[in-house]
Parts: sequence; structure tokens; C-alpha cells
Amino acid sequence: QVKNVAVLVGSLRKESINRKIALALADLAPSSIKLEIVEIGDLPLYSEDIDVTPPAAYQAFREKIKAADAVLFITPEYNRSVPAALKNALDVGSRPYGQNAWSGKPGAVISASPGAIGGFGANHHLRQSLVFLNVPCMQQPEAYISNAGNIFDENGKLAERTQSFLQSVIDAYADWVLLQLRTHG
Ligand code: FNR
Repeated sequence: QVKNVAVLVGSLRKESINRKIALALADLAPSSIKLEIVEIGDLPLYSEDIDVTPPAAYQAFREKIKAADAVLFITPEYNRSVPAALKNALDVGSRPYGQNAWSGKPGAVISASPGAIGGFGANHHLRQSLVFLNVPCMQQPEAYISNAGNIFDENGKLAERTQSFLQSVIDAYADWVLLQLRTHG
């Protein structure tokens, strides 16, 4: 049956390139997986004090991650690292201690930037946290989308070259999810 993938977009911007890539990937995804964005913009900054009585936003977020079969991160790079909103979402999902919602969910990281480095720094800083959170991450193909300011035309259509690359990424990711769930699920 179809595996549900929670998509985490690292930008809160309405016109976010990364969000557009997430939506494009949802269309390109093979029928074995279904992508759905889980919003992170309404999560209060994590504090153990407020988590004594978890805000409704924390609870709803944790439930959505726990209910998902897999997780896919699509993020810009902020100052060569992970945007705070996305790191906050990782932290919220990791608690309370011993109830890490991310654990065992097959993952992948895609980064995109209008710059030339394609969000490499964010991509790998994120992977560092995912090691600790026990998210088995697809290694290849790596996805650093550079010059991403130009990949959508004025009608919102994705450049052919980028589309075929993203197709190969999402196909490989679907295989990765099914393999992981068959082995460890
Ligand atoms: C950026 N940007 C950026 N780009 C990059 O390639 N490396 C970086 O370290 C940074 N740092 C950075 C910090 C902050 C605070 C902002 C707001 C932006 C530029 C960034 O890649 C660009 O704004 C993207 O368009 C953001 O992605 P979305 O929102 O389009 O998905």
C-alpha cells in the first residue's frame, strides 16, 4: 500500500523556491509514495519549560510525524546552516525524551539555493542531526539544487533538466523508503 511521506520545508516564505520544489516533487512522485507537507511555521521555539504542558501545535506536529511512514527534508541554507525554523521542528519532534518521533523514518535531504553551492552546508548540517535522531538517510543521489532562482519559468513550469534530475531523486527515494520499511518496518 502507498507509503505516506511527511515533507518538511525549511523556508516559511510564501514564494519559497524550496516549497515549490516540494510541490513539484509531490507531482513527480511514483505511485508507491504520497508526499504531504507538514507545516512548521506555527511551532513555538522549543523550550523544556513550555513542553511541561505541550502546546497543541507541538502535539499535532508530533502526531503527524509519528503517523508518517517516512520523512523528506527540502531546505534552503541560512548562513551556511539549517534555517532555525527547521531545526526547531527537529527539536520539537525529538521530545519528550525517549519519544523521538523521527526515529526509524526513512529520510532524504534536498537543498536548494539561488547561489552556486546549492545549500550544501545546510544539507550536511541537517544530516548531522538526522544521524542522532535515527533517521536513515538516502546517500545517493545527493541533491544540491544550485542557481535555483532560475529553475521555474514565469508560468511556474520547472526547467526540463531540473525536472528530470528531481525525477531521478524522488524515484530513488521511493525505492529507499520501500527498502527500509521492508527491512526494518
Ligand atoms: C540566506 N540565503 C543563503 N543562501 C545560500 O546559498 N547560503 C547561505 O548561507 C544563505 N544565507 C541566508 C541567510 C538568511 C537569513 C536568508 C534569509 C537567506 C539566501 C537563500 O538561499 C534564498 O533567500 C533562498 O531563496 C531561500 O529559499 P526559499 O525561501 O526560496 O525556499
